[in-house]
Amino acid sequence: MRLGRTLPPAAAPVPLKSVLSGLKGVMRGKNELRRFEEELKTYHGSAHVFLVSSGKACLYLILKALQRLNPSRREVVIPAYTCYSVPSAVKRAGLTVCLCDIDPVTLDFDYSRLSRLLAERGDEILAVVPTHLFGVASDVPKVRKLTAGTPVTVIEDAAQALGGRLRGKPLGTLGDVGFFSLGRGKALSTVEGGVVLTDNGDLAKALFDELAFFGGYSALDLVNLAVQAAALALLMDPRLFWLPKALPFLKLGETHFDTDFALKRMSGFQAGLARGWQQRLEEASSARRRHTDAWAEALQGDGGAGLTSPAEGLLRYPLLVSEPTQRQTLLSASERLGLGVMAAYPRSLDRLSAMGAHCGDTHCPGAREVASRLVTLPVHPYVTDGDRRRIRKALPFTATSGGEAVP
Ligand SMILES: Cc1ncc(COP(=O)(O)O)c(C=O)c1O
Repeated sequence: MRLGRTLPPAAAPVPLKSVLSGLKGVMRGKNELRRFEEELKTYHGSAHVFLVSSGKACLYLILKALQRLNPSRREVVIPAYTCYSVPSAVKRAGLTVCLCDIDPVTLDFDYSRLSRLLAERGDEILAVVPTHLFGVASDVPKVRKLTAGTPVTVIEDAAQALGGRLRGKPLGTLGDVGFFSLGRGKALSTVEGGVVLTDNGDLAKALFDELAFFGGYSALDLVNLAVQAAALALLMDPRLFWLPKALPFLKLGETHFDTDFALKRMSGFQAGLARGWQQRLEEASSARRRHTDAWAEALQGDGGAGLTSPAEGLLRYPLLVSEPTQRQTLLSASERLGLGVMAAYPRSLDRLSAMGAHCGDTHCPGAREVASRLVTLPVHPYVTDGDRRRIRKALPFTATSGGEAVP
């Protein structure tokens, strides 16, 4: 067990005074939620905002609303390498997961495969879910071009991308509907939480109707949230992060396929906890931009594929290591030295047996390559220049031996 300075892989500082705002938010209830909704609408220029308990609850809500509008279509195209919560939400909504392989260099869809899927299964497909993995912008405008003139809805998975932009437009607003996660380790955290954005009035009406089936937080849930918020405020600091990391029951960083997740409307506590979020987000984004640029520069000579899509202020900096064995060496060094270097999802979705049947691509070489070679480097505001130097030293390659900067 490591006792010294230990970096979390991703973190957004939660000031202790925000926990107090959260408690006040419980008193203010609906007013606090309305304030947060209005701020999110103004920031994103979106007509409609819905607040729920998680990113996966957002996706479930969107899919249920879309089924009301389009009951004959049952397939949802998702990237074959993404958070397991995404197929969990599709299955929970009673729909079929349709996998599309990804391009390991961009982490975005393999667009030749996506075009083929849309041509072959266009009549069955309800929605496509382009995803800004680690904050690397997916080419949502390209997905919209491919689906233009069809009833296929583009759901922008911006779970990891609050505050990011593509060609000047806020991520989350590029699809027909978008969502953010406000979970731990996201750009802004309310312990757990999710935000749905859309400009489409018909969809907003269906979202509103579906949201009526969601429950609220109980008093016990709120106490639990408050304790977790205080823990986030105190223990994400690298001087203390060794403590939660040493507690295996917290299962930090683990992701599971699990369709049994809570479907709740956001509480006043979470909206209160978010008070002042624009300034906090801007401060954290500026640190993430600085570290992202520094990693891009430092890794340039390392056989990097270069920045193929705009990457500003990522949530974690993705890097493909040449060999799975090199990756293991790096991850072990990170554990030993508390460097916050992490692998992401252990398997591509075509190999995730817990997920069960799916359609679309059955063999996803791009996603498999990423699952076996990807590591992420920390870029959050707790990272110092000294930390970056320590991480650089632990990277198992030199300028000639390879390692590819992904974004
Ligand atoms: C890409 C992506 N989509 C969806 C989700 C689901 O968000 P949540 O954990 O808030 O349910 C996550 C969570 O990490 C994610 O990374």
